[in-house]
Amino acid sequence: MAEGSWYHADIDRVIISEEQIREKTAELAKQVSADHADAEGGLLLVCVLKGAVMFMADFARALGRHGPSAEMEFMAVSSYGSGTTSSGVVRILKDLDRDIAGRHVIVVEDIVDSGLTLSWLMKYLQSRSPASVEVVALFRKPDAVKVPVPVRYVGFDIPNEFVVGYGLDFAERYRELPYVGILRPEVYARS
Ligand code: XMP
Ligand code: MG
Repeated sequence: MAEGSWYHADIDRVIISEEQIREKTAELAKQVSADHADAEGGLLLVCVLKGAVMFMADFARALGRHGPSAEMEFMAVSSYGSGTTSSGVVRILKDLDRDIAGRHVIVVEDIVDSGLTLSWLMKYLQSRSPASVEVVALFRKPDAVKVPVPVRYVGFDIPNEFVVGYGLDFAERYRELPYVGILRPEVYARS
């Protein structure tokens, strides 16, 4: 396990360490800023709560080292309930606070799994006439895709297993872990 991470008894194994996340986040921020150096009005980051909260905070800070300027917006949508499989039905729990028309939008996502949520979200955002919409996702499960969604920036492709940590939860737990890992099977059995 990476230095600075802590062991949690419910975690079977860590798949992406804290250090790997830090390095990848810096890399993604560098790419995004290089590609958008001339974005008029700067970037508008749209974080999809709650899972992307850690990534948003770290990505925005990493982006701040390079510019362009970045404003932050938060949305909350739900497609999972409290379990581990996508229902495909997306509900808005918290909408954008302002108009995104004419803005260069970067959706900051934790993980693209089936792609159902993101595909819905892209249509929703595009209907509000932004200048551009692109996605940065820290994780993607290529073997789980049901709807192909163009994700310009991807951190890590990971196996098709349910993961927790670094914002990702199982029944609202484990978001605080600084790494991403897989739960021991007994954890599901006792919930
Ligand atoms: P979809 O399937 O629509 O995923 O691409 C939508 C959202 O579901 C969450 N998600 C996960 N959360 N472990 C989690 O804790 C996972 O393995 C996982 N896969 C998907 C996540 O918020 C994603 O944006
Ligand atoms: Mg998400």
